[in-house]
Amino acid sequence: LLGLETKMMGKHISYHESLPSTQKIAHKLADSGAEEGTLVIADEQTEGKGRLLRTWHSAKTGIWMSLVLRPKIPMHQAPQLTLLAAVAIVQAIEDTTSLLPAIKWPNDILINGKKVTGILTEMQAEADRIHSVIIGIGINVNQGLEDFPDEIKETATSLSIEEGQPISRTSIIQSFLKHFEILYNLFLKEGFKPIKLLWESYAVSLGKEIKASTLTGVLYGKAIGITEDGVLLLKDDEGEIHNIYSADIEIS
Ligand code: BTN
Repeated sequence: LLGLETKMMGKHISYHESLPSTQKIAHKLADSGAEEGTLVIADEQTEGKGRLLRTWHSAKTGIWMSLVLRPKIPMHQAPQLTLLAAVAIVQAIEDTTSLLPAIKWPNDILINGKKVTGILTEMQAEADRIHSVIIGIGINVNQGLEDFPDEIKETATSLSIEEGQPISRTSIIQSFLKHFEILYNLFLKEGFKPIKLLWESYAVSLGKEIKASTLTGVLYGKAIGITEDGVLLLKDDEGEIHNIYSADIEIS
């Protein structure tokens, strides 16, 4: 990537025209000792993976990438990296477009209420030691509405649809890597607090009544905040507070 301003993030790039999933290759590279900051990018994915075992539609003209990290942090802090990545993506979108993105916990980035980005964080660990964290990021950049499958046409969008003109994928990736590196170094030095503050400033779900669909059931209540680990706190009608580790959130 020409003009990259980072020291570590994206220093090694593994670029592919078409892949089943960038996550798979990133895991393989991590297993064979790839350096922190190694980035796998594909123009197209034929088996893109989403959260909660979903497929992720990854036609050409989007950004599909996976970043290899090797943070020396306890395992329970790994979800914080998802929130960190979300902040870096918001900053990259703000840098390269006139759009105002918002974050829906834990990792969806919305523009005008529609999803433009998803993040899938996967970790490999032994005992409580993290071997690698792979942050998979999908950004809808230059797709038109006709490029989305029918079932997501009402809930998904792309940067170019919202901006009304094509957006440079390279600029977004460069800006993302720059912001990610700054935030990651801050995180390693000062912990999650400064990242949490930034994340909260972009969050749309906090303080609102929400419906949280988890793999084990549905919960209703008010999103009252996130913990130091990035876990969502939901207060139900009886006043009981639930920790939500993984779910789909709808704001009612
Ligand atoms: C979500 O469900 O919101 C997360 C979607 C993550 C998609 C990205 S695209 C690059 C990387 N490779 C994959 O197969 N998935 C992630």
